Amino acid sequence: MSSRIVVLISGSGTNLQAIIDACKNSDYPGEVVGVVSNKADVYGLTRAENAGIANIALAHQDFDCRASYDQALMTEIDKFTPDVIVLAGFMRILTPAFVLHYQGKLLNIHPSLLPKYQGLNTHQRAIDAGDTEHGVSVHFVTEELDGGPVILQAKVPVFDGDSSDDLAARVHEQEHRIYPLVVKWLCQNRLSMHKNAEQEQAILDDKVLPASGYAND
Ligand code: GAR
Repeated sequence: MSSRIVVLISGSGTNLQAIIDACKNSDYPGEVVGVVSNKADVYGLTRAENAGIANIALAHQDFDCRASYDQALMTEIDKFTPDVIVLAGFMRILTPAFVLHYQGKLLNIHPSLLPKYQGLNTHQRAIDAGDTEHGVSVHFVTEELDGGPVILQAKVPVFDGDSSDDLAARVHEQEHRIYPLVVKWLCQNRLSMHKNAEQEQAILDDKVLPASGYAND
């Protein structure tokens, strides 16, 4: 049976598009049933519309606090009865109540080789630090911002003279390869998050993944 995927966005939605495209493959074990944006007029909503996927804009400015916004967001998401929730450039800090509600079903993509460069401006920070290698991480979402267990990373080189835009474009290409793959694993129930008092771990095919994700110990 096909898993029901809800994707949250705040922008152009190229990762959303990569997942929509992957779902067109008849072997893919999931389908995007809903897209929610915290911003109206973003191109990601047009992408959903073009693909015939239900979509809504839920503006955070209409709520007086983070908790009430996240509560409304949960209500909207749950109407889609999702199995998997995918943050694809959703640029909001989430409340613990939200994270807990979707624990083990909530994925994020972050444009750095976590744990390096949590937060914003990751490409410029990698250039400024003189890194020769940069990349992207897909991870489970936990209460710690950009801190949940990494599932898969992809690396890209940093070349002399790269601008932040050059590097972002190189990273984006890798994002579009790895995100549909990790979403697929979660849809297939091959992937889970294990949590105990000390730590959270990502588990793929019954094996605990190393700190930097699959194929990367
Ligand atoms: C992606 O590069 C993603 O890694 C980043 O936002 C971009 C969204 O692009 N996410 C974060 O920075 C989360 N902290 P898209 O809208 O084209 O998919």
